Amino acid sequence: MKFLTTVSILALSGGLSVSAAMAQFVEPTTPPAPPKFDAQTDPVLVQRSEIFQYRALDSYSEPAFVSEFVETGKLPPVEERLPKEPLVFSSANMPDGPGVYGGVMRHVIGGRPEGWNFWAGQSQGWGGIDIAMYECLTRNGPLFTIKPEDLEPLPNLAKGWEWSEDGKTLTVHLIEGAKWSDGDPFDTKDIEFYWNDIVMDPSVTPVVGTSPSSFGDARLEVVDDYTFTMSFDTAFPESVLYALAYGNFCPGPSHVLKPEHPKYGGESYQSFRNAFPPEKLAFPVMGAWVPVKYASDDIIVMRRNPYYWKVDENGNQLPYLNELHYRLSTWADRDVQAIAGTGDFSNLEQPENYVEILRKSAEEDAPARLAFAQRTIGYTLIPNLAANGTGEPDERGQAVRELNRNRDFRIGISQALDRQRLGEALVKGPFTTPYAGGLMPGSFFYDDASTAFYPYSVESARAHFEAAGLEDTDGNGFYNFPDGVAGGGDVQIVITNTNDYQTDKNLGEAVLAMLNDAGIKASLNSQNVNDRNGLRAAGKFDWLLLRNEGEQFTVVQNTDRLAPLGKHSTWGHQANDAGELDLLPFEEELVDTLRAFAGTRDGEERVELMKGFQKTYTGNVYTVGLTVYPGALIVNKRFANIPEGAPIFMFNWAEDSIMRERVYVPEDEQRDLELFPDSLPSPEGPVKADG
Ligand code: GLA
Repeated sequence: MKFLTTVSILALSGGLSVSAAMAQFVEPTTPPAPPKFDAQTDPVLVQRSEIFQYRALDSYSEPAFVSEFVETGKLPPVEERLPKEPLVFSSANMPDGPGVYGGVMRHVIGGRPEGWNFWAGQSQGWGGIDIAMYECLTRNGPLFTIKPEDLEPLPNLAKGWEWSEDGKTLTVHLIEGAKWSDGDPFDTKDIEFYWNDIVMDPSVTPVVGTSPSSFGDARLEVVDDYTFTMSFDTAFPESVLYALAYGNFCPGPSHVLKPEHPKYGGESYQSFRNAFPPEKLAFPVMGAWVPVKYASDDIIVMRRNPYYWKVDENGNQLPYLNELHYRLSTWADRDVQAIAGTGDFSNLEQPENYVEILRKSAEEDAPARLAFAQRTIGYTLIPNLAANGTGEPDERGQAVRELNRNRDFRIGISQALDRQRLGEALVKGPFTTPYAGGLMPGSFFYDDASTAFYPYSVESARAHFEAAGLEDTDGNGFYNFPDGVAGGGDVQIVITNTNDYQTDKNLGEAVLAMLNDAGIKASLNSQNVNDRNGLRAAGKFDWLLLRNEGEQFTVVQNTDRLAPLGKHSTWGHQANDAGELDLLPFEEELVDTLRAFAGTRDGEERVELMKGFQKTYTGNVYTVGLTVYPGALIVNKRFANIPEGAPIFMFNWAEDSIMRERVYVPEDEQRDLELFPDSLPSPEGPVKADG
């Protein structure tokens, strides 16, 4: 590490002109060892089958106020609302056992809902609103608690599946007789619509970016009301089971979505997208709660879904909690409120808040518990590598894309960044650690020896920029585009990030300053998450500064997002309008490796393949990793059944992992927090049985 001193002294002395830098490359090393972080709690590991089963119970019950709806003829009896064999959570797996009805969980979020059409690309505001509303065929969030040898997605709306003998056909069985929150049956009509008119319709993209490659380009066929098959060209592409979970296969209510889709009489794709604004209440869901009130920049209130299809072992229809609140505020306020006890839940993920929040959580009468898990939060700079028209760049933008395709340029960017300082700028202490990019340290598939870490060296960064053909032709301290390219002016790169989070802002600013120091003029295009996501999906950016989305840690999930397996599977390299991808040779290699990974069930082979993947990925600086650090889950102490060691993010966000439908508030802890007591959802808003 001795070169660091020399280089930083040079950099500090200032005025180091581009041409004065001697062409000296600093070679990659393995990443620095992460600081020891002992504060983490570990989960209790179980087999998947220990969490729940599908079975009929002798009798079922519901909150007393819901029975009144049955008595007044407004709802069918509970046993008619439940499926033949509901999902039954096992008492033995509940940290505090079966619960009681009542209670509210008060969330605070920084996002804003665009509407309920998740499938046409609208965000619900994040923070787990969508997770509360929409359920998926399989479920991954709780997998942090599964023994490694039993790791496979949990059944959910898909209660089971089997592979054909040749492994090329997967038969999926849906839960039978479950209903949407308005009483409409859930069945393969919903699957068919989701598949044909969302996934396979190139004009529609769900907000998380699902595309056919998410499912290994499968073909889907409906067999009967509760059965469908998916067929593949390769044998046993088991990762597809992960793709049936949150994000990618959470079907919407076809009975309300279909009439708005342009193929079935809807006016246009735009009108389809906007057909369900947040003001439209009681949007039909399969999730445990339904939106019953929306006040712009203020609150979303959700009430229990009387048709929810999960129960506890005593036959109590879930959820236990009658109401969820979503205060529309800021993400930083979520931490502050959760620790103060005016909010109930936060994923502590912005390190700028750690010291203050930790201090408060240590106070004797602290209303919330706080628990750290592993380092699963990471940030990456992603270059746009499409040089064939994706996102319609202007001349400057096109010139940047071409630079981005140059390995020396990417190495230069990487070595211009002092990751140690980036991390410390967020928080001091043993939290952050420099991140090379690609698979994250801590991931099961991560291998230090296969990871090329390009250490900070402005001198080497400049040498690489020069090797990429850049020169400071006008002597103003910034590199210029080569003659004839974008007027030969200063290279200017725009980094697209979000200003919804302090961390994204701070990292963006620190990266800018470091790039400027290395002779690259950079600026930020900071947007709210919804708008950032729009630019991202359209491939309209030079570079993206992005919080990692999970595949870099879990690998088995959203594997197609690690390299362009499909036309739109990675943000950094998407096809143009003609569907063409101009992949670089090393990207082809990455794609081949991922295909081989998907094509084998041999555990050792998979580990070896991912080592090779990481070598190629980090050796070529496919993306520029910045920093990784642990997050902490903050939950008010009055809640029971919060599993130990739940990471704020791993296979999914904690809002999924903690299984909110079985979380409860013990009777003596319940407070008068319900805004709409005794009410159920209706399109007109919350209603009472006698209303
Ligand atoms: C946002 C928050 C995360 C988490 C997710 C859930 O992204 O930053 O902590 O709550 O929403 O979707």
